[in-house]
Amino acid sequence: MTVITRDSTRRQIEAEVGLSVMEIIRRAGIDELVALCGGCCSCATCHVYVRDEDLDRLPPVAGDENDLLDSSEHRLDRSRLSCQLRFEASMDGLEVAIAPED
Ligand code: FES
Repeated sequence: MTVITRDSTRRQIEAEVGLSVMEIIRRAGIDELVALCGGCCSCATCHVYVRDEDLDRLPPVAGDENDLLDSSEHRLDRSRLSCQLRFEASMDGLEVAIAPED
């Protein structure tokens, strides 16, 4: 998958099926994705923007995720919490950009 960091650097990283997108990004050493709560859907510091053409390949936004994203000043239609996205083989080539800090 590809990650675009806040300074617009594009990084291609190996994505392991079964991990969350947040875990994949953190394990690649990209620590500007803070993921403060460790993935339990309570902090929104794992906010990413999904490339438009990838949106249909992802599961829908769940209630908790939606509520937390609403607390972000930077929410867009293509916003997701990366800890709530479990990487699957069908998501090969996914591209996300790390959202600005709130
Ligand atoms: S890591 Fe806290 S909501 Fe995703």
